Amino acid sequence: MQIKKLEWLPSFNIGTEEIDRDHRQIFDIVVKIQEAIERDDLDTCSKLVENFVKTTKLHFEREIEFLARVGYEDVETHRKYHERLLSRAVKLEKNCYEEIHRGKIVDCYSDIVGLLIDDIVRGDLEFKSFLQEYQSSSSPKQDSGRQGPET
Ligand SMILES: [Fe+2]
Ligand SMILES: [Fe+2]
Repeated sequence: MQIKKLEWLPSFNIGTEEIDRDHRQIFDIVVKIQEAIERDDLDTCSKLVENFVKTTKLHFEREIEFLARVGYEDVETHRKYHERLLSRAVKLEKNCYEEIHRGKIVDCYSDIVGLLIDDIVRGDLEFKSFLQEYQSSSSPKQDSGRQGPET
């Protein structure tokens, strides 16, 4: 079964290493799912879907923790957004299990890609510019005992 190859684009990068690392990890799992589908390796596919949901859950927690730490003002909205994505992910895990066994694996795959896109490409864009500003205002400063952008 041939599926359109998924490609990581530079625009997916948020510019913050710990978030980008997570996104990349989730993305790599999706690529592996794609490869398993192409090999008709359904067992591996089931395991990878499980791994995808688990990794996404952990990522959401880490991302929220991170946003709170850097003082992003809309953490609560993003947390709720994650909650909705997560309930989709839990349903998807169950559906995929059934779809994989009914030979409708491509439906499962498109749900997974949809979820990936909704976090990395859509949802997280909301704080991309905030993080860029945050980084440019905090990175040149060494810890010299003085804090904050004002002097
Ligand atoms: Fe994210
Ligand atoms: Fe997110």
